[in-house]
Amino acid sequence: MGSMTVYGGQPLRGSVKISGAKNAALPILAASLLSSERVILRNIPDLTDVQTMIEILRAVGSAVSFKDGCVEIEPPLSPNTSVPYELVRKMRASFNVLGPLAATYGDAVVSLPGGCSIGVRPVNYHITGLESLGFKIDIVHGFVRASLKKKKKEVVISLPFPSVGATEHIMTAAAVMKDLHTVIENAAAEPEVEDLGNFLNAMGCRVIGAGTRHIEIFGTRELLPCDYTIIPDRIEAGTYAVAAAATRGHVEISNVEVKHLSAFTNVLKETGTTLEIVKPRTIIVSMKDRPANVRVTVEPYPGFPTDLQPQMIAFLSISQGTSVVTETVFKMRFHHVDELKRMGANIELTNGTAIIQGVSKLSGADVNATDLRAAAALVIAGLMAEGKTVVHDVDQIFRGYEKIMEKLSALGAEISYEG
Ligand code: UD1
Repeated sequence: MGSMTVYGGQPLRGSVKISGAKNAALPILAASLLSSERVILRNIPDLTDVQTMIEILRAVGSAVSFKDGCVEIEPPLSPNTSVPYELVRKMRASFNVLGPLAATYGDAVVSLPGGCSIGVRPVNYHITGLESLGFKIDIVHGFVRASLKKKKKEVVISLPFPSVGATEHIMTAAAVMKDLHTVIENAAAEPEVEDLGNFLNAMGCRVIGAGTRHIEIFGTRELLPCDYTIIPDRIEAGTYAVAAAATRGHVEISNVEVKHLSAFTNVLKETGTTLEIVKPRTIIVSMKDRPANVRVTVEPYPGFPTDLQPQMIAFLSISQGTSVVTETVFKMRFHHVDELKRMGANIELTNGTAIIQGVSKLSGADVNATDLRAAAALVIAGLMAEGKTVVHDVDQIFRGYEKIMEKLSALGAEISYEG
């Protein structure tokens, strides 16, 4: 595992262009398995998670090329519907090929995803959702087999929590279940779910309401070739916005869909950060001071995103006064807090809430990244801190941030990577 060395204290200045959304690319690549036609996808970020999903498509038998953000997929001639443990182990989102494969070919076997560093992440909603669609599910030796058993006409699935992955999984499988009308209640409304719905419709499926809590899917098998461009990555955009504010810098961020970030930009403005929309899809973020203290509640979309919580806590560690961040999506997602404390932050955790007594500055230290967004938070902390910070086990950052070394260096960060 590599490490990043960051020398802090330098305000970030300049411009940065945001890449395509990882969390839209992954379910859309998985959904390409539904089609027996050619699929072209654009604005796909070159990330290790995207490479893993491409490896899965190839393992199934699709011919995939990936160049300059464009992925071209030719469907398999003789599909292999068994996805090995090695590929699912690398990335939880791999599990989401089970439903599409089983719905397309009648039967599929995918390894159960393993543990996860941001807390318990079960797949029970996925499994009960697929059962409701008419699949028989068997779990044997760590593998899940889904076989189509019952043809149904009408299914209503009410999710106990608006899970992004479960909504996407059920929606994708249901899209090709001919003559089945599926309703998902309490669906996740994230922009990436909406993008998946738009992609499915571009392939000839009928999905209504993706991006709201109520989604209806009318299954069809008549799919078309398609050419689709995915949305910009709101989490990458938010990360650069926090980095700009935290270093008291001035950064123009382009290719950002501002409406996808409202809950986040509201909090950022409350901290005293200036945020101007200068053109459609371009914002300038600037900050001159330590942030004002704020209260943040992390919630499913349209609430404040959990994937920006660690970065925001890093920023608020120097807030003027006491800030409070409550996490309701992944209640255990606070591994970055102990690392921030090594840098001088004063943060107390109680029952999914971080109480942050702002300190005047952080000081550089050796820290350890436990997950993708924690890694981003610690790099931001390093950029804010006095002296040298080494973020160990940092490679997970490449799962979610395309060309992060180039982008941060172009903004004036003193940063290097040792592999
Ligand atoms: C997706 C995102 C991830 C983001 C998360 C929440 C992708 C590839 N990943 O993850 O970056 O942090 O949404 O916005 O898009 N849950 C269950 N049972 C299930 C499924 C989920 O209990 O079957 C719980 C989870 O443990 C968690 C909550 O539901 O507490 C939300 O998880 P979910 O929305 O499913 O996250 P992911 O889709 O895994």
